[in-house]
Amino acid sequence: MAHKGRVQTVRDSFQVVRTDADAFARGFYDRLFAKRPEMRGLFADDMSAQQAKLVTTLVTAVNMFDTPSQLIKPLKQLGASHAQMGLSQADYQLVVDTIIETLETTLGSAWDVAHDRAWRGLLDFVSNVMQEGAADAA
Ligand code: HEM
Repeated sequence: MAHKGRVQTVRDSFQVVRTDADAFARGFYDRLFAKRPEMRGLFADDMSAQQAKLVTTLVTAVNMFDTPSQLIKPLKQLGASHAQMGLSQADYQLVVDTIIETLETTLGSAWDVAHDRAWRGLLDFVSNVMQEGAADAA
């Protein structure tokens, strides 16, 4: 699919997510901690602020899908702030896969392979630039 089509697919489906962004973020962290319980201890007991931050990052990434060069600096900074945790490429992949699964559950029957490709395109970019930022900081 051409870039324009991917941007539209992501934007349209994200409108659905935004109708209940809190539930989306809760669903994501519940899934993540079910898979990797040891990650729970890295986060605060009260997850509400963290949930809001994750949603804000996604909103920014979706809004700037057309101008990804403007995302590089803030994403590298975000990655640098993760550097001390010593995360692996697999940890980042797990986060991307878990966001995808949460999107799939949220979208239900509207989810298809075009959504999977479009969202992975955006999330892989976010994940890769964060990892570059972490590597620069190390
Ligand atoms: C695509 C990948 C990721 C995104 C978009 C992301 C996003 C964020 C954001 C927006 C914050 C808040 C930063 C702030 O306070 O200014 C954060 C903090 C954090 N992230 Fe990530 N993150 C990602 C990957 C990971 C991974 C793989 C882990 C592994 C466990 C992780 C663990 C944490 C922890 C522990 C914090 C700090 C929480 C706290 O201060 O209580 N993140 N992340």
